[in-house]
Amino acid sequence: PAKLPFFLDCDTGIDDALALAYLLATPSVDLRGIGTVSGNVSASVGAENTLKLLSMAGFSTIPVAVGLHHPQAGEFGGGAPHVHGHDGVGGVFLPGSGSAVVTETAAEMLVRLAHEHAGSLRVLAIGPLTNIAEALRLDPRLPELVAEITIMGGAALVPGNISAVAEANIRNDPEAAREVFAAPWSITLVPLDVTMSNALEEEHATQLLASSLPLVHALGEMLAHYSGFYEGIFGRRCCAMHDPLAAAIAVGSVALRTAPVVSVDVDTTSGPGRGQTVCDLRGQYLGYPVQAGAHCRVVLELEEQFAPHLVERLLSMAPAP
Ligand code: BDR
Ligand code: CA
Repeated sequence: PAKLPFFLDCDTGIDDALALAYLLATPSVDLRGIGTVSGNVSASVGAENTLKLLSMAGFSTIPVAVGLHHPQAGEFGGGAPHVHGHDGVGGVFLPGSGSAVVTETAAEMLVRLAHEHAGSLRVLAIGPLTNIAEALRLDPRLPELVAEITIMGGAALVPGNISAVAEANIRNDPEAAREVFAAPWSITLVPLDVTMSNALEEEHATQLLASSLPLVHALGEMLAHYSGFYEGIFGRRCCAMHDPLAAAIAVGSVALRTAPVVSVDVDTTSGPGRGQTVCDLRGQYLGYPVQAGAHCRVVLELEEQFAPHLVERLLSMAPAP
């Protein structure tokens, strides 16, 4: 069967690294290019991390483009060193890649790939949506060209993780997110509702650590750092699986139990709601008719726990040539 062309936009980041590895380990995925955006770390540090991870897995030919550093309003806030470490990979040593980023920007790369794979390109966005909004501005026809965009972000029925109501990717650039949700494309949103309730346990991290593949082993080491942060939240050594779950849903390998198609807007005010994803779930819970023009599938529940599938997929990776 034909492989699906993908563009990944990320802020690499420990769970971004897991999502990247998941795509590389999936035979049906043809990863055509990667853009980085400032989020967990700066866009340039994220790009360096991405190049190193690709090189460890034997995929150095996949181009990496640096995207925007600052959000639409204000400035990059310095990232999330308390979650992902100052280097974004929990202080785990990754060998130098020997490769460089390309000269086009992440948004330019997305627009070019959308034209080259018109009607079939899949976009997976697992950082702030700054580059995606920029690409919409570069080419307003983008939504017609892209087959589907999957976004890790937001919180529909649960609290946020960076404020009472906002999730980090959306809160780090609410203006960009609002434009992306308003554009007429088919969106799948993977919010905290499912990513917080699908934890990877210590036993799973141990399985990855035991791998002889350098990339998979390094992911196990990164998870030790990540679990340290989440221990303070969950009370045991485990971690939320945000970005890899979005990758698996984008690929179509996860069965969804509850995923209504609804309208989603983003709060861009400067009040306490800033960055909230306002999902109109009246149809799902109160029986109201679905809003005309609704085009965002919001994943609220999975059929099965995700971590065992993630571990199995990562352990199935072929060694780098
Ligand atoms: C999201 O924010 C980032 O820290 C993670 O990589 C993930 O994309 C979770 O809120
Ligand atoms: Ca991320």
